[in-house]
Amino acid sequence: MAKNKTVFVCSECGAQSSKWNGKCPSCGAWNTLEETVPVAVVSGRSAPIGEFKYSRISEISYEDETRYSTGIGELDRVLGGGLVKGSLVLIGGDPGIGKSTLLLQICGFMGKDHTILYVSGEESERQIKMRAERLGVACENLFLASNNNCESIIKAVCENKPECVIIDSIQTITSSALSSAAGSIVQVRECTGAFMHMAKSEEIPVFIVSHVNKDGGIAGPKIMEHIVDTVLYFEGDKQLAFRILRAIKNRFGSTNEIGVFKMDDDGLTEVENPSEMMLSGRLANVSGSTVVCTMEGTRPILAEVQALVTKSSLSAPRRVANGFDYNRLYMILAVLEKRTGFSFGGVDVYVNIVGGLRIDEPAADLAVAMALYSGLCDKVIPENLMVFGEVGLGGEIRSVSRVRERVKEGARLGFTKCVIPKNSFSALSKGDNYGIDIIGASTLSGAFKAVAKGENK
Ligand SMILES: Nc1ncnc2c1ncn2[C@@H]1O[C@H](COP(=O)(O)OP(=O)(O)OP(=O)(O)O)[C@@H](O)[C@H]1O
Ligand SMILES: [Mg+2]
Repeated sequence: MAKNKTVFVCSECGAQSSKWNGKCPSCGAWNTLEETVPVAVVSGRSAPIGEFKYSRISEISYEDETRYSTGIGELDRVLGGGLVKGSLVLIGGDPGIGKSTLLLQICGFMGKDHTILYVSGEESERQIKMRAERLGVACENLFLASNNNCESIIKAVCENKPECVIIDSIQTITSSALSSAAGSIVQVRECTGAFMHMAKSEEIPVFIVSHVNKDGGIAGPKIMEHIVDTVLYFEGDKQLAFRILRAIKNRFGSTNEIGVFKMDDDGLTEVENPSEMMLSGRLANVSGSTVVCTMEGTRPILAEVQALVTKSSLSAPRRVANGFDYNRLYMILAVLEKRTGFSFGGVDVYVNIVGGLRIDEPAADLAVAMALYSGLCDKVIPENLMVFGEVGLGGEIRSVSRVRERVKEGARLGFTKCVIPKNSFSALSKGDNYGIDIIGASTLSGAFKAVAKGENK
C-alpha cells in the first residue's frame, strides 16, 4: 500500500505544497501552511462536464428574497432584516461563548411554523434535548441528530426537506470522499462547499457553527468565509454576562450592525438598551473616566472610557489598550504631549473601554484624550458629561458623522452636558437644544478648558 504522505495546505488560499515554507508560494501569506493528509480522491471519479447555460439579464425573473424572522430581534437586525431563504450563515466564536445556545433559541420561535433540523457533531441528542428544555425551546417541529457525516446529512435534508438546518460545528463534520481528519482545512472547505450547494439547491437557510483559532479568526481556510453568504462573530468576555454579535460579511445586508445579548440561566436575552447596560456600575467621582457616544451601525451606544495613569518603574513605560486601537492610543498620547504640553514620560498608561466593547471609530479619540488628561491630572470629569470627536495631529477636534443621533442618545440617558466638535454644530437643527447643554470645542486645550469650567460651576 502506498505510504500516506502529508501535504501542506495554506489556510488563506487553500494552495497545496509538498514541503513546509514560511511563506505560501501561491498567495505570499506568512505562517499559513498547515500539515494535512492529502485528499484521497475516490478512484475512477472524473468530473462530468455539465451543460453551460446563460441568459440575457432582462430575461431573468426573480421574486423578492424571502426572509424569516428568527424571533430574536437583535439577530434579525445583524442578518440585515431576517434570515434569507437559501442562505448559508457561519457563526464563529470562542468556546463556550453561547453559539449553540443562540441557535437553539432560534428554534423556539421558528419551530412554531417551520421544521428545523439541528445536527450536532459535538453533543448527543440527549444533551441537546436537555439544553433545549432548559431554554424552554423544545417543540414538535424541532428534529435533533447527532451525526458527523457530510453526505448523510445532505441526503437526509434532501429527502426530508426541513425548512431550516443547523450544523454544530463544521470542524466535527467529515466528508467520506476525503481521507483527512475532521477539522482539517480540506475537510472544512469541502464540507462548507457541499452545505452551500445544499442551501442553494434546496432553498433552505443553513446555519453553520465554526470554532475560532487562537487569534480569534474562524478556524479553517479563509476560503470558507468567501464561500458563505454571511459571517457572524459572537464576541464578549466570558466572565461578563453580555455578548456582542457582529456581522463580518453579509451578502444580504450591512456589516455595521451589532446585536447585544445578555447570558443568564435562561439563555441569551436581547439587550434593547445597550447604553444603559454599558454604563451600569459606573463609579462617581473617579478620575480617568469619561463617556463617549459611539455608533455601531445605525445605533448610538454610550460607553465608558477609562484611563489609568500611574507612575512607572519600567525604563519603557507600559501602554495598554483594551477595546481601543493600540496605535491610535500612541497617536493621542503624542498629540497630548506636543499640543497640550502634558507629559506622559515615566508613567504607565492603561486605557479600557468598559463592557468588552471594541470601538474602532475615530469619534472616540476625544473621550480617550479626555480620560488620559483626567487620569494624569487626577481631575474628575463631571459625571453628567458626554464627549465625542476625532482628534487630529494638530490637536484640533474634527467633526464626525451622525452628530444628532449621538447627542439625542446622551440626552435620553440623562446626560446634561456634551462636548462635541465645533464644526459639527452645522449638523444640529437650529433652535433645538435637544435637552442637553452642547459645548463646541475646536482644540483639545479648548475642550479641557470647557470641562474644567463646568467643574467649577
Ligand atoms: N445549566 C446552565 N445554566 C446556566 N448557564 C449555562 C448552563 N449550561 C451552560 N450555560 C451557559 O452557556 C454557555 C455555553 O453555551 P454554549 O454551549 O451555547 O456555547 P458554545 O459557544 O456552543 O460552546 P462550544 O464551543 O463548546 O460548543 C456557558 O458558558 C454558560 O455560560
Ligand atoms: Mg456548542
